[in-house]
Amino acid sequence: MTAANEVILTTERPGLLNRGKVRDLYGLPGDRMLMVATDRLSAFDVVMRNGIPRKGEVLTRLSAYWFDRTNLVVPNHMIAVLDASNASELCVDADASFFGRSMVVRKAEPLPVECVVRGYLAGSGWADYQAGRPISGIKLDDGLRQADRLFEPIFTPSYKAAEGHDEPITYEQVEALVGLERAHVMRLRSLALYRYASEVALEQGIIIADTKFEFGIIDGEVTLIDECLTPDSSRFWPVDRYEPGHDQQSFDKQPLRDWLEASDWDKRPPGPVLPSDIVSDTSERYLEAYRLLTGAPLPER
Ligand SMILES: Nc1ncnc2c1ncn2[C@@H]1O[C@H](COP(=O)(O)OP(=O)(O)O)[C@@H](O)[C@H]1O
Ligand SMILES: [Mg+2]
Repeated sequence: MTAANEVILTTERPGLLNRGKVRDLYGLPGDRMLMVATDRLSAFDVVMRNGIPRKGEVLTRLSAYWFDRTNLVVPNHMIAVLDASNASELCVDADASFFGRSMVVRKAEPLPVECVVRGYLAGSGWADYQAGRPISGIKLDDGLRQADRLFEPIFTPSYKAAEGHDEPITYEQVEALVGLERAHVMRLRSLALYRYASEVALEQGIIIADTKFEFGIIDGEVTLIDECLTPDSSRFWPVDRYEPGHDQQSFDKQPLRDWLEASDWDKRPPGPVLPSDIVSDTSERYLEAYRLLTGAPLPER
């Protein structure tokens, strides 16, 4: 058995398909995959050298929470979160360190589009707006401030590049990439998910400024894959500190951001070693985001 607070930076089991920035992916028999969220943390696209205790479990269980609540409206890839009770039934051979952080999913043919939805003007959306550029082809009214709430949520897709940074693309470019019908369904489903989740979150004191979804094709259907509405795929802001006109405090990454900005790290790999108080603060914030959004503490493994 592994201790609950042990950090997992990399996993090893047979069938490795790919290691992403955060997840290790394994093939399973029967068109299934095991998606294992490690405790890796990336900032400025660089993976930090420390792991964040329980982060992998938060990502997996928070995604599962949203998948469960939205699957009647938007089909998704989840079969189950792997735990001690279902591993043998699911025919997954993995030790206890995989429980709670791993999801058994249906394998999809991923569509190469990051489906970004923005309800507020932040990040690269704000950078484009400030430079007078449309955001993924969308021209907003003049006079908006940084972090302002938008009149309505907008769909601002990016091309999911195999290497390097994702490039913003217009809706018409999405149509050209995946076809008219699939583009339409992706946009509709992304906006529906954002609208629902942002209302749930706001009641709990969290603004979801923006978020990113991925879709893939399973049995011919445009299906939500990857992760869903986690601190890694979304910008969460505490509502009680919301004040448009400048950059906002991040609900989960503020201590890390402040520490990194004050350090002399040049934002190039390798990342620095984080001090233990930053690691524990960040872990607490991931756990708090989970608790607020779902209304219950993260279950023990
Ligand atoms: N159901 C699925 N079928 C196939 N690929 C998937 C599925 N769900 C997620 N993926 C892919 O698995 C990877 C997840 O690993 P992650 O660490 O999040 O990668 P990244 O560094 O690209 O964010 C992504 O490349 C994602 O597109
Ligand atoms: Mg990812």
